[in-house]
Amino acid sequence: MPSSNAFLNNLAGNSIDKLVDANGNYIQQTLPYSENFLEPYMDAETLHLHYAFHHGGAVKGANKDLQMIKKALEENNLETIDFWTKKLSYHFSSHILHSIFWTNLTNKANAPKGNLLKRIEKSFGSFDKLKVLIAATSKNVDGNGWGILAYQPYSDSLVVLHCENHEKLTQWGAVPILVIDVWEHAYYLKYKNKRTDFVDALFNIINWDNVALRLNDAEKLIL
Ligand SMILES: [Fe+2]
Repeated sequence: MPSSNAFLNNLAGNSIDKLVDANGNYIQQTLPYSENFLEPYMDAETLHLHYAFHHGGAVKGANKDLQMIKKALEENNLETIDFWTKKLSYHFSSHILHSIFWTNLTNKANAPKGNLLKRIEKSFGSFDKLKVLIAATSKNVDGNGWGILAYQPYSDSLVVLHCENHEKLTQWGAVPILVIDVWEHAYYLKYKNKRTDFVDALFNIINWDNVALRLNDAEKLIL
């Protein structure tokens, strides 16, 4: 199944990834491909553990955080509200980024074109310059985190973000359209301590058609 169709299937009516059910509880979409689809660049065992336990754990955590915030509000317990609000920011941000990450990947190399390419050239000079920037940003994240390409409506431009954990060092309003997971769980089984090799390999499986769809949606969200 082409990943772009899987992306479309994951969309809610308002063009945002469907990450919650009708009751507001967080839900994890099924993977848009089989666990060995991204071999050899991303091995099936890593993908399985990553999707089921790391992403899945974040969804579970976010649902618990939400319940605990409700409980703390009922009990007027300000200290625990503060704690669970921070937890929810961490877990829900993880859920959002992982959900985008799966659809950003495919087993067929392609390249940006059309509006996405124009936007890249306007913001970074060229596609090659963007690749250099997002690769360097991802490789150099302190500890665990993400390299992120986002559409920033306030400046009407594309920006590259250096995100720590799942929620730190963002810009308000920025809509992620390409995310690169550089937590050790994303690569350690296959690439050991060589994060740079993993990031370089990932450029073989980025689905730029999905990035283009996401840019299109992000532009519409602010009109
Ligand atoms: Fe991850």
